[in-house]
Amino acid sequence: MKIRSVILGAGCYLPERVLTNTDLAKMVDTTDEWIVQRTGIHERHIAAPGQVTSELGLRAAQAALADANVDPQTIDLIILATSTPDNTFPATAVSIQAGLGITGGAAFDLQAVCSGFVYGLATADGLLQTGNFKRALLIGAETFSRILDWTDRTTCVLFGDGAGAVVLEAQEQPGERTDRGVLITRLRSDGRHKTKLYVDGGPSSTQTVGHLRMEGKEVFRHAVAMITDVVEDAFRATGYTAKDLDWFVPHQANKRIIDGSAHKLGVDANKVIITVDKHGNTSAASIPLALCAGLADGRIKRGDLVMLEAMGGGFTWGAALVRM
Ligand code: ACO
Repeated sequence: MKIRSVILGAGCYLPERVLTNTDLAKMVDTTDEWIVQRTGIHERHIAAPGQVTSELGLRAAQAALADANVDPQTIDLIILATSTPDNTFPATAVSIQAGLGITGGAAFDLQAVCSGFVYGLATADGLLQTGNFKRALLIGAETFSRILDWTDRTTCVLFGDGAGAVVLEAQEQPGERTDRGVLITRLRSDGRHKTKLYVDGGPSSTQTVGHLRMEGKEVFRHAVAMITDVVEDAFRATGYTAKDLDWFVPHQANKRIIDGSAHKLGVDANKVIITVDKHGNTSAASIPLALCAGLADGRIKRGDLVMLEAMGGGFTWGAALVRM
């Protein structure tokens, strides 16, 4: 027997305000055609003034708890993946914990930029397997609009705000690859690339929040190779192949990166969940947003084999194979 982390439900939240490519073309020298052709993004959501990351995360968490039909008081672990916390400290996760009325268990933030949700899933899975925790809330929530340079057309067109969450439960399973839950996770990082995608501020360096800076071409150049390498590693570890997948739920950064990765892995295009067109790159929130969309419209079903993957600042990257 083996403890597996089973996804009981998922929820998501996107702020009300929609910023289209046409809106952006009035702010910087760009066009709808350029953005769609290079990224597949049509629009993104922007948090209202004063609407902080914890509020987005709380709404997604409440939706996930409702979807799972789980009482918040039974949650003993909250992990929030974010690079845009409300404050330098305390962890934004504790604000979500308080918002849910939970006073027990543990809550903390995890920072792995766009790979945050996969890193968070691996961390939650590890903690649930210790037997010390029973039910976890894993949330990805971001307000990237607050760290964008809105005069820089090479970055401001790519990102958006949003949140997604899953409820995970430790369940005893036979310990076979046909089990439900997280079957394998694989995480990687290589700090030699840390200046290719970063924020030029922080508490210890500038005492400011800073703005996102990116060498887009360099990120693009590494993305597909890193993603396919870690996904293939996850396949090797379980004996599954791309043909066995029911769904591929990638980090939603750029449709060209998603298409390139799926093609190289041999995943059928009609098995790929794509939502980047509707919310842009929401960093750690993008995988649960896509997962949520696939579950809500009935494409992803109980028992389906799903590969999650992400790559982002650091660079960090990772993959998780999950049976729903
Ligand atoms: N609108 C119009 N023109 C633009 C814009 C814009 N928004 N941004 C850049 N351009 C111009 C450039 O200035 C350049 O003009 P020039 O030839 O006169 O110098 C031209 O378009 C081509 O620019 P490139 O940077 O070569 O464009 P490219 O085809 O590489 O696309 C992009 C840029 C979309 C950023 C691409 O490199 C990319 O997708 N990179 C990956 C970035 C990414 O997804 N990051 C997300 C974070 S990482 C992650 O989550 C995985």
